Amino acid sequence: MALDRKSPNDLNAFWMPFTANRQFKKNPRMFVGAKDMHYTTSDGRQVLDGTAGLWCCNAGHCRPKITEAIQKQAAELDYAPAFQMGHPIAFELANRILDIAPDEMAHVFYTNSGSESVETALKLAIGYHRARGDGARTRLIGRERGYHGVNFGGISVGGIVTNRKTFGPLVPGVDHLPHTHLPEENRWSKGCPEHGAHLADDLERIIALHGAETIAAVIVEPVAGSTGVLLPPKGYLQKLRDITKKHGILLIFDEVITGFGRTGAAFAAEKYGVVPDMMTTAKGLTNGVIPMGAVLATAEVHDAFMNGPEHMIELFHGYTYSGNPIAAAAGIATIETYREEGLFERAAELAPYWEEALHSLKGVRNVIDIRNEGLIGAVELEPIAGEPTKRAFSAFLKAYDKGILIRTTGDIIAMSPPLIISKEQIDELVGTLKEVLEEVE
Ligand SMILES: Cc1ncc(COP(=O)(O)O)c(C=O)c1O
Repeated sequence: MALDRKSPNDLNAFWMPFTANRQFKKNPRMFVGAKDMHYTTSDGRQVLDGTAGLWCCNAGHCRPKITEAIQKQAAELDYAPAFQMGHPIAFELANRILDIAPDEMAHVFYTNSGSESVETALKLAIGYHRARGDGARTRLIGRERGYHGVNFGGISVGGIVTNRKTFGPLVPGVDHLPHTHLPEENRWSKGCPEHGAHLADDLERIIALHGAETIAAVIVEPVAGSTGVLLPPKGYLQKLRDITKKHGILLIFDEVITGFGRTGAAFAAEKYGVVPDMMTTAKGLTNGVIPMGAVLATAEVHDAFMNGPEHMIELFHGYTYSGNPIAAAAGIATIETYREEGLFERAAELAPYWEEALHSLKGVRNVIDIRNEGLIGAVELEPIAGEPTKRAFSAFLKAYDKGILIRTTGDIIAMSPPLIISKEQIDELVGTLKEVLEEVE
């Protein structure tokens, strides 16, 4: 029983996600508060948030409008059944999301996370074809180095080896496009690289191999984030769109990190002028404050399911917390905050400053590439021979000690600050990172 615990704060009780648990528990790093651009640590220090939490607090921390909306909603309608019953704000939020999405997006299906949005979209893709009498279209095509969350569908279409290799045979009938990282041709590119649109042509090879009539969907991140920020080569996404359309294959953009202003537009689909059939979102939808995700779908995808007797459920899929009232209230207040403060436009305006600041790190010890888009940045380091990931992880720890929060994946440092960051704070983030890189092994 909990009351018998000798040590109520035993760190071992919590098995932490995507964390070096043993290292952490020897030397814990704890946040106890947050406001706007800063976290407060348990030892009372301020840490500048260079990652918007985990790419999610796009409006910064503890924003009053969002906090108040959650408080008010919790006291008014805490929970309502999500199946066969509704409550108004889930509908309102769906409309507010569509207001800022590409015109072709017509319906919103709620989930609780990016991973669940991905599973939902993959299932919708297969169900869509079946509903149209095309039930042989079950194959799913992802991409090497892709990240689509951690559930079975997501790791199957995903292409990050460490996330896949431990978990058995995964979902069958999946194939992968090549990743788009061409360091020889594209090193030090600012924004989208020039070379690599041809990599989309590999989809034609995959289609020829399996037959278009067996393929349901292609899923990609418009900007691959978790693998260490890989921008789409110029023209690449349009090619994917053209090829999928030609063969009747659905295209899903996983916008879990690119959604809600990160690239300087509401969604990457808008930024790159390429409209998919479905978009998966989460994170910035509620400013990261309450778990919530959403899949956006075109009328064509949705309408395919709307047949049979009207009293029948059309889609046997959903979550207890789909459209949860408190999450929906947080989502509405978040989108209002983005709009009132013009944060997507702000990200676009700051992007050139961000780009210059980041690229000033060219020439710093061990930096072998820098990539950027909107308020996204990556600094790739030469790995220590025989000890991959160690240099970047040491940089992360030192950065934390010096008062900035960065993220690392492999030997790549990724940054994605809240869209409220100031130019002075960009200088502080990049200046401190420079010091860190000069000091780590
Ligand atoms: C592109 C993408 N898809 C899906 C996910 C999974 O989201 P979650 O951690 O909310 O399940 C992430 C998380 O980083 C992501 O970056």
